[in-house]
Amino acid sequence: MITATATSSCNRRETAMTTPEKADVLRSLDGWAESNLLPLLKPVERSWQPHDLLPDSASPGFREAVDELRARALEIPDDYYVCLVGNMVTEEALPTYHAALNSFVGYDCPSSGDAWARWSRGWTAEENRHGDLLNRYLYLCGRVDVRRVEQTIHHLINSGMRLASDKCPYRGFIYTAFQERATAVSHGNTARRAKALGDDSLARICGAIAGDEKRHEAAYTRVVEELFRLTPDAAVCALEYMMRERILMPAYYMFDGRDPELFRHYAAVAQRLGVYTTADYADLVQHFVERWGVAGLGPGLTGEGRRAQEYVCSLPERVRKMERLDARRRRRRQPEPRRVAFSWVFDRQVELQL
Ligand SMILES: [Fe+2]
Ligand SMILES: [Fe+2]
Repeated sequence: MITATATSSCNRRETAMTTPEKADVLRSLDGWAESNLLPLLKPVERSWQPHDLLPDSASPGFREAVDELRARALEIPDDYYVCLVGNMVTEEALPTYHAALNSFVGYDCPSSGDAWARWSRGWTAEENRHGDLLNRYLYLCGRVDVRRVEQTIHHLINSGMRLASDKCPYRGFIYTAFQERATAVSHGNTARRAKALGDDSLARICGAIAGDEKRHEAAYTRVVEELFRLTPDAAVCALEYMMRERILMPAYYMFDGRDPELFRHYAAVAQRLGVYTTADYADLVQHFVERWGVAGLGPGLTGEGRRAQEYVCSLPERVRKMERLDARRRRRRQPEPRRVAFSWVFDRQVELQL
């Protein structure tokens, strides 16, 4: 999840390539996607399914297994559940992400045999297990107000998302690479925290999802790497655009029917628990700038490309500086911890870090 970046809105035009030209580059990479992306999907037979990680409803020991799951859940604090619900709600808005991905790759036929189309369906099928698994766990654990959570999912899918890519596939893939890495961090941290709280099976649940996210991150990182290799000027300008835009987490529009600041409050709990923080965001930016070799882009860049390169390379340090300033401001403004009621946990109060 990505909470904030540089604030200025970017009205600059990318001069390197038009959006239709970029879409042509993507279409020309169908053979590349066949050999570089599709192998990153796991065959169904070798994939975990939500049922593997939850009590078996057909087993005579089902009730006992559920009782054990609920007993372990009693040891876990509400703030953890707020983070887990936020992660689950994000996963459950998958129809929105499937539609967005299809718009990047020009996939308009559900029976298409193109590599991009097969990737889109395969990725969606893998992602679909994430929301299912967390949803079923949260239903069984008895710690959350399931109806409120379901309403939040309903609202979120109704509202869609702000992608800021403006139909440009380069920007869309950059956004997606960031999001996959961000979700890997977030699910990985809920896994570690569950383990520290003594719930190994919940740790396995979050860890299985984090593992998928890492594989997906590898795929989208490769796509953008290939775009940098083929058209570095357009790629670095797209990266600059996305960094200057306010990149929002896909679940930014989450709403439970009550709290108009639900996303901000959820993000503040995630920040306090260390599930996903602004420091993680700075790490993400640095990681991708290095991974895509932005600093080493050669003399082939246009003036526009060089300016974008300079901006992007200076960004990790700027983001960290902004984070330090914000943290200082927060401490001055909010010397005492602030608590907010979350409908997801039956209106119990949870501590925030704003
Ligand atoms: Fe996911
Ligand atoms: Fe993902």
